[in-house]
Amino acid sequence: MLKICVLVSGGGTNLQAIIDALDNKTINNAKIVGVISNNPGAFALERAKKAGIDCKCISPKTFDKREEFEDALIAGVDEYKPDLVVLAGFMVVIPPKMIRKYKNKIINIHPSLIPSFCGTGYYGLRVHEAVLERGVKLTGATVHFVDEGTDTGPIIMQKAVEVKSDDTPQVLQRRVMEQAEWIIMPRSIDLIAAGKVTVKDNKTIIDK
Ligand code: GRF
Repeated sequence: MLKICVLVSGGGTNLQAIIDALDNKTINNAKIVGVISNNPGAFALERAKKAGIDCKCISPKTFDKREEFEDALIAGVDEYKPDLVVLAGFMVVIPPKMIRKYKNKIINIHPSLIPSFCGTGYYGLRVHEAVLERGVKLTGATVHFVDEGTDTGPIIMQKAVEVKSDDTPQVLQRRVMEQAEWIIMPRSIDLIAAGKVTVKDNKTIIDK
């Protein structure tokens, strides 16, 4: 049974997609053992409570130094003894020592087709604004392992989504979530739980 800790900052629709996929057995052999938010107001925490999942807030605002917050975050994750840490809209840069400790055990969802529209500064609506500014016809989402770069880790799964000429960033963001994020994040977790994902030379090998 793969034990998952989910880190969130906002609405938690990706968390909800994971909860639903566990309920309807799209994800097998896994369970969410805890949810951690950096933001006390995150609606994601309400979703976790409603699903009966243990959750806690570890806010940087309650610490004097960044390092103290980072150590508390790592300790908070460690408490759940997870096999997999899922970043589901977590707006905190993961401390390098946590990345080293959980090598190839942290996954993230990014709302574009990496390596386009990713890296420093590309988060939230900004990604979709940049997509519309460039005028690409396809965008999408990517699930990847987290390494010490920004959006540079081994890619697990991607799904393309059409960009329409009258899209606003908000409309496009919603379509990317519905047609890609909420599908490929649960599928990626199911593959990992089934032991079908290995990493070699910064690439994943998916056993089908
Ligand atoms: C998603 O767009 C995800 O790709 C990005 O942050 C957003 C999180 O949304 N990393 P939610 O909190 O899961 O609703």
